[in-house]
Amino acid sequence: MDITLQQVSYAYAKNTPFEKRALFDVDLHIPSGSYQAIIGHTGSGKSTVLQHLNALLKPTEGTIKIGDVEVKAEKRNKQLRKVRQKVGIVFQFPEHQLFDETVLKDIMFGPMNFGVPEEEAKHRAIELVNLLGLPDEVLEKSPFDLSGGQMRRVAIAGVLAMNPEVLVLDEPTAGLDPRGRKEIMDLFYRLHKEKGLTTVLVTHSMEDAARYADRIAIMHDGKCVLAGTPQEIFSDEGRLMDYRLELPQSIKFQKKVEQMMGKKLPVLCLTEEMLAEELALFLKKEREL
Ligand SMILES: Nc1ncnc2c1ncn2[C@@H]1O[C@H](COP(=O)(O)OP(=O)(O)O)[C@@H](O)[C@H]1O
Ligand SMILES: [Mg+2]
Repeated sequence: MDITLQQVSYAYAKNTPFEKRALFDVDLHIPSGSYQAIIGHTGSGKSTVLQHLNALLKPTEGTIKIGDVEVKAEKRNKQLRKVRQKVGIVFQFPEHQLFDETVLKDIMFGPMNFGVPEEEAKHRAIELVNLLGLPDEVLEKSPFDLSGGQMRRVAIAGVLAMNPEVLVLDEPTAGLDPRGRKEIMDLFYRLHKEKGLTTVLVTHSMEDAARYADRIAIMHDGKCVLAGTPQEIFSDEGRLMDYRLELPQSIKFQKKVEQMMGKKLPVLCLTEEMLAEELALFLKKEREL
């Protein structure tokens, strides 16, 4: 499902003494099936953008098109329920939203609320618990008796249980240990590929943006200041520094190696694996000369 923001501005608490403008004329096109990362410093407007993607917030000015549904400030729209079903958001610290007596009921709640029959909802819950690497026993437990990492997985299962076409992730691995982070990021990537999902990821990790995304947008002071492929975004370190962002580790390392060798590799290496391959190729060619 294509999503397009056109000149979207947003102010919290509009027309009150507490009015706070959070977005300024944001243009962003997220093609169906793409993996879009959004990066930017804290307070730059990333979470505010995300909440527009399923019309939880409506723009104060401008338009957002979500599939064939158009959302504008002044327009009432009966189709928002449909949008909310198709666009699933995993909020920051989603485990704070768990509420039901058991994990099973918690995961089933969303789909049943949207009219999915009980058996089908239950089937999805069991499947998802397994997919997320949790043992079957958790289904009958209270979500509040689980570890933090397990609670995060249950909350993610609850969003996936809606079978969304677009999966929106707001720093989904914040606070998890490195292994849990990698497992969950790899799972999202697999779902993205296998189900043809459109994925939107807000992250502080330049490594995750470089590894998984095929497009990256930079938010800065409520504006979308730059959008492009990872190769484009990470080609200019000075510009990133203007937005208080850094290069991914693999590219930093690549630059050091290039300096030492006095020669450049032909491409920017977005992951360590890619860097290892490029270096091996380079050394092989050098030896052949
Ligand atoms: N509920 C709110 N009420 C008022 N201001 C808010 C609210 N949520 C966020 N803001 C402000 O809007 C700006 C953008 O916030 P946010 O979208 O959360 O940024 P990010 O996700 O990039 O950290 C910040 O200045 C923040 O303080
Ligand atoms: Mg945020």
